[in-house]
Amino acid sequence: MSLFTPQEMKDLSGRVFVDFLQMKTFSEDPLILVKGDGIYVTDHLGKRYMDGLAGVFTNILGYGYQPVIDAINEQMQKLHFGMPMYATNDKSLELVEMLSSVTPSEFNKMKFLSGGSEATEAAMKMARQYHRQTGNPGKYKVISRYGSYHGGTMGALAASGGAARKSHYEPFATGYVHVPPPFCYRCPFNLEFPSCDRLCAGMIEDTIINESPDTVAAVIAEPIIVSGDGFIPSPPGYLSELRRICDKHNVVLIFDEIITGVGRLGHMFGAALYDVWPDILVVGKAISAGYYPLSAVILNDQVSGAFWGDESDMVQFHAGQTYGGNPTAAAAGLAVIRQLIDLNLPARVEKLGERLTNGLRSLQATHPEIGQVSGEGLLIGVEYVRNATTHEPFSDDIAFAKKVDEECRKLGLITRPSTNVQIFGPAYIISESEVDQMISIVDRAISNARNSLAA
Ligand SMILES: Cc1ncc(COP(=O)(O)O)c(C=O)c1O
Repeated sequence: MSLFTPQEMKDLSGRVFVDFLQMKTFSEDPLILVKGDGIYVTDHLGKRYMDGLAGVFTNILGYGYQPVIDAINEQMQKLHFGMPMYATNDKSLELVEMLSSVTPSEFNKMKFLSGGSEATEAAMKMARQYHRQTGNPGKYKVISRYGSYHGGTMGALAASGGAARKSHYEPFATGYVHVPPPFCYRCPFNLEFPSCDRLCAGMIEDTIINESPDTVAAVIAEPIIVSGDGFIPSPPGYLSELRRICDKHNVVLIFDEIITGVGRLGHMFGAALYDVWPDILVVGKAISAGYYPLSAVILNDQVSGAFWGDESDMVQFHAGQTYGGNPTAAAAGLAVIRQLIDLNLPARVEKLGERLTNGLRSLQATHPEIGQVSGEGLLIGVEYVRNATTHEPFSDDIAFAKKVDEECRKLGLITRPSTNVQIFGPAYIISESEVDQMISIVDRAISNARNSLAA
């Protein structure tokens, strides 16, 4: 039972800053969740929704998943928190072993933190420190792509693209350089894949050379850009080209797998799907299935080796965050990864992802507004267009993806819209019939959105 009546909750809703939303608009028709079960959430009015986004790509095991809840409860009774400045704990050690077992043999050392932004920032700091401690103190710049999102804290935001999110907080520290993303559907260079010869990857090398390799510490990239502007999967050969370029210029390659990691793409990591491994792998969100804040910065031996030395060398990582590496978070992460392995969930994700992708693609026959359906596993973006041949987008004031999302909401499905793309990322425990239901709701929602435009 909630303390407040539905009306009281609505009245209070404008007092909470909800991520990225205008509070005034939000409070007029707020989504206030009071309960979750399986892949469903219930709001303060008793309306039940299918969660097509797994919280925010976090709740991969759904709501009320007992094995994880039990692991957390057990750990809470035993040692709920450690001493982050003096000690590690048994659960963190088990988690190190567990994550090492699902990554290539050179990934042995890691830093546990509580959120994605903390982790991407730590990775960028580590890249700088690595160079400082391996004889290249001038390498400090970080190259990233416009359109990307690496987090909301100042360093992570500086590395992100997206003027709408960033401009309010300018200026940022220097040392962050951006290049165009590999957006084949709307190529920033008006080229076609593969005759483009991956110019977007080549531009990263040009940028390193123009900035001077002596100044560039890291390239940070998500295998699929999701949280920034648009939905941008890496084209074939793009990530391996980044690997080649970074090796050539002694630049640390960081994969931000906050969304793509932990099974989301039908493999344990995007790196495994694309068969390209970075020097630093950053994971968050799904790693604890939303049950407890946890993220991890996983370093290969080459990078982590630079942090190993005598006390007098002062080469340790000079940073930490209070809740990072705590035993309850580690217990949650362990329980989640165990489920992924024991139930072979990445394979399930691959299979259900195919069903969802094919189902959404089948809607193109009756909905010309669907320009393309792309993605991997259960991370899928539907790009809506005014003209499917030219890929001309709808104008911002029409924002068709948002309209479809609103219609989905009315029909009991929560997804994630940006201006042109509707993104799907359900829990891995979703059933085949729930996938079909989702497709059928989107089908109706697109018709409703079209009719609302005509009205
Ligand atoms: C790719 C990516 N990196 C980093 C972050 C930041 O994570 P957090 O919000 O947990 O700080 C996000 C969050 O959505 C993300 O999508």
